[in-house]
Amino acid sequence: MVRGYIFLASALLLGATNVSAQAQNAQTCVSSYDQNTDYFPQKFDTTKDSAQLFTIEYHNNYKVLTDTTASNQKYVLVQCGTPAPPVSNFPNGTEIYQIPITKAAVLSTTVVPYLEMLGVAETTKFISGGDWVTSSCFQKYLTGSNAPAEISVTNTTQSIEQLSQVQVQFGYSPGASDPVSNTSVASAETYENSVLGRSSWIGYYSAFYNLESVGTSALQTMTTNYNNLAKAASGYSNKPVVAWAVYNAPDQFNGNTASWQLMTDGYRKQLTSDAGATIYSGSNTNFTSASDLVNAIKDVDILIDETYIATNLTDVLSNYQITDASKYKFAKAIYREDGILTKSDMINVVNPTAPSSSYKRNWFRNVANNEAIHYVSTDDCNWDETKPRSSLATKFEGSAFSEPSSSAASSISAGVITLMASTLVALALI
Ligand SMILES: *[C@@H]1O[C@H](CO)[C@@H](O)[C@H](O)[C@H]1NC(C)=O
Ligand SMILES: *[C@@H]1O[C@H](CO)[C@@H](O)[C@H](O)[C@H]1NC(C)=O
Ligand SMILES: *[C@@H]1O[C@H](CO)[C@@H](O)[C@H](O)[C@H]1NC(C)=O
Ligand SMILES: *[C@@H]1O[C@H](CO)[C@@H](O)[C@H](O)[C@H]1NC(C)=O
Ligand SMILES: *[C@@H]1O[C@H](CO)[C@@H](O)[C@H](O)[C@H]1NC(C)=O
Repeated sequence: MVRGYIFLASALLLGATNVSAQAQNAQTCVSSYDQNTDYFPQKFDTTKDSAQLFTIEYHNNYKVLTDTTASNQKYVLVQCGTPAPPVSNFPNGTEIYQIPITKAAVLSTTVVPYLEMLGVAETTKFISGGDWVTSSCFQKYLTGSNAPAEISVTNTTQSIEQLSQVQVQFGYSPGASDPVSNTSVASAETYENSVLGRSSWIGYYSAFYNLESVGTSALQTMTTNYNNLAKAASGYSNKPVVAWAVYNAPDQFNGNTASWQLMTDGYRKQLTSDAGATIYSGSNTNFTSASDLVNAIKDVDILIDETYIATNLTDVLSNYQITDASKYKFAKAIYREDGILTKSDMINVVNPTAPSSSYKRNWFRNVANNEAIHYVSTDDCNWDETKPRSSLATKFEGSAFSEPSSSAASSISAGVITLMASTLVALALI
């Protein structure tokens, strides 16, 4: 009996020592491979997250990542210093990567917030569209001495030279052809239909860095906060109606024909309902005339304008060819997403007194109230880009929000707005 206990205790101790040694190994290359060692004590459980579009399967020294959007493209992530499994074990087209990644190219700005939350943004050595990243600390990184270079868009020889220097290119469109074989990893977070599904993609990126425990805990924090906010906004008896619209200006890609569109599903629908509102969902969503669109939404309480560029109310009204805004219920509640966002934002759009009356939106800006765009500058950087970036979402643990004013227009003009969305979501929308 006694011996049994002693044996158990020392086995546990031994176990604990092994785990930390393995965890350390996981950050460097393994020098003496042992096939019985689990090199990945940190795991991201894709059976428990909200993402629909990827899975991770763990083996002792490699992981199999499957992206279900691109015909089940598989990426085999092999712990550096250990043998890769035979490629013939996997479907044609499977790519093999040595991890952890130390040099990456980022082709889509939506990837940056995930890398920041894992503390590995500075593994980015090449980037496409760096100026569009709204993170102030990433902007600072772009101006520093180790700044990543912009991937050439005019010179293919040069872009291939650049991309040949990295282990992985994140942000590839699923199914796109790859100029540098076996280095392009698709990013499908924006194809997820739910807000927390998008947030869950932190697990996908964490697998490339052996940082699954950081990813898992960041996701838990975001999920708890999101659910707290959604619960507090769930009890409004009078739910404002929100329309999400976009104006597509005539250009060479649309035959120089202007069109207007209402977006009624996917993450927008969920974000809207989780913020205590209802999304506008008429049968007609595509319009060739601005007045038809405006007529369709004349009774909505809030308009969210997703048109690419519009600086002020004059621009927005002109895009929708509205001459007299006062005729519409949403006249004082026209938001754009170019303010710079966090999750509490949507709740505040719907109800200006929630999460608190002093809440300052980051992302949604009420152009009808002359709120200005905040252009990010490196002076705004107040975290260490080489460490996991904490969630930007307002931490919320309070009780139910009080009913928004029956006239959303007047209550919104009263001040601050809300939206929702976990920080990551917010950032991932960029
Ligand atoms: C594997 O895929 C490549 C490129 O997609 C294709 O050229 C090749 O024919 C495929 N091979 C088999 C055995 O399907
Ligand atoms: C394209 O890039 C290559 C490699 O960097 C360089 O040698 C070449 O001069 C560039 N071509 C042009 C037209 O700039
Ligand atoms: C890409 O990886 C596969 C699987 O490891 C391998 O069979 C193929 O030769 C690689 N292609 C190139 C161009 O390196
Ligand atoms: C509306 O337009 C979008 C973008 O052009 C298109 O993808 C979509 O299929 C259209 N929807 C309908 C119902 O016609
Ligand atoms: C609105 O912004 C446009 C530039 O997009 C500018 O030309 C115009 O003067 C602005 N109007 C007002 C009223 O500020």
